[in-house]
Amino acid sequence: MPLEPYELPLTPRRAQTVKLEGIFGVLRDASPDAWGRRIIEKHTGRIDLTEVDYLLHSPEDRAGALSFGRGKAPPAPVRKFNQIIQLDALLAAAEKFMDDEAAGQPGIPEQVFELLRPGSSIGGARPKNVVEDGEGLWLAKFPEKGDKWSNARVEGAMLALAQECGIRAARHRIETVANKDVLLVQRFDRTLTAEGYLRHRMISGLTALGAEDSHGDRAKWSYLLLADELRRRSARPVQDLEELFRRMVFNALISNTDDHPRNHALIAAASEWELSPAYDLTPNPLTSVEKRDLAMTCGIHNRYANRTNLLSQHGQFKLSLERATAIVDDVQQVVAARWHTVLRQHGTTPPDCDRLAGAFNYPGFELDPAVVLAG
Ligand SMILES: Nc1ncnc2c1ncn2[C@@H]1O[C@H](COP(=O)(O)OP(=O)(O)O)[C@@H](O)[C@H]1O
Ligand SMILES: [Mg+2]
Repeated sequence: MPLEPYELPLTPRRAQTVKLEGIFGVLRDASPDAWGRRIIEKHTGRIDLTEVDYLLHSPEDRAGALSFGRGKAPPAPVRKFNQIIQLDALLAAAEKFMDDEAAGQPGIPEQVFELLRPGSSIGGARPKNVVEDGEGLWLAKFPEKGDKWSNARVEGAMLALAQECGIRAARHRIETVANKDVLLVQRFDRTLTAEGYLRHRMISGLTALGAEDSHGDRAKWSYLLLADELRRRSARPVQDLEELFRRMVFNALISNTDDHPRNHALIAAASEWELSPAYDLTPNPLTSVEKRDLAMTCGIHNRYANRTNLLSQHGQFKLSLERATAIVDDVQQVVAARWHTVLRQHGTTPPDCDRLAGAFNYPGFELDPAVVLAG
């Protein structure tokens, strides 16, 4: 089975890449990002680690199905996970780590490291961990100093709002420990069975696009190109293309300007690939009322989060203009009618709802791009 069928097809030839510091995207996707790397650097006391070092220093509960080791025998699967009842201790460990780091303390106490280790192989920049309960494995996302509101509640609400807009969003719930909110997102790359966990293969949108994470490769960060990739990679392209279109429209309407290619993924539970559930949805109210840009190209006017622009390439998603317009109208109506209620249902305070309102209130969505872009 190829790790990834286009960049790394099964052939007897030697494969090489100069992208992503010389590591194939599918391998890079199994590696930690900023959060995990900070922990590994503190633990090893080294800042000269290579991509392969990060892989080998991160534990076996990484995203996707791959395992890494120095020998030919694959490493044994992890059997003991941090439990949900340990959330208190895990959060305290993450806070201690961040405080020590801010204070310029070298190293990381062994006890703190042991608790944080399971979060260090998963991607993303926010502090996180992996926890288990009777239902399976969850990604636990912790608060961070400097958060403007309860991120857990707001992100949880966006997953729920996405679901109401007809989007397949990851399952979530919110746990409050020591007066702080933690978002639990059920891992969609694992299925609990009587014998243990089945691991599903996973690649990021970045890998599907064959793109770099640097801004120099920004031209490839594109919903239109990701639609092309779904066409050739997904076992259910028609549903996935419409789903991707709906997510793009939703991101525009909640001002989720952090919708970069690593916040999209494809997943293969068995032999076939499909678009993963939606995750990491965050509204950003602190942006222009006339022109907001998504992180990826979404139409002929580049990244402009705007109705005319979103509809301009409807054919890329195999949608008629009528169908695409109906989706935009539908998502717009649900977001407008429901954002406040869903935020409140998730326990977002009224003042925080006020602070967030601008994310859902965006006149630029309906403006004429020709006028806005000319001005
Ligand atoms: N529910 C999930 N199941 C499996 N993997 C996930 C899930 N949610 C996120 N991931 C993976 O973990 C990474 C970090 O999660 P994300 O929510 O994006 O955190 P951050 O806010 O730090 O970017 C993602 O890029 C993705 O690879
Ligand atoms: Mg993310």
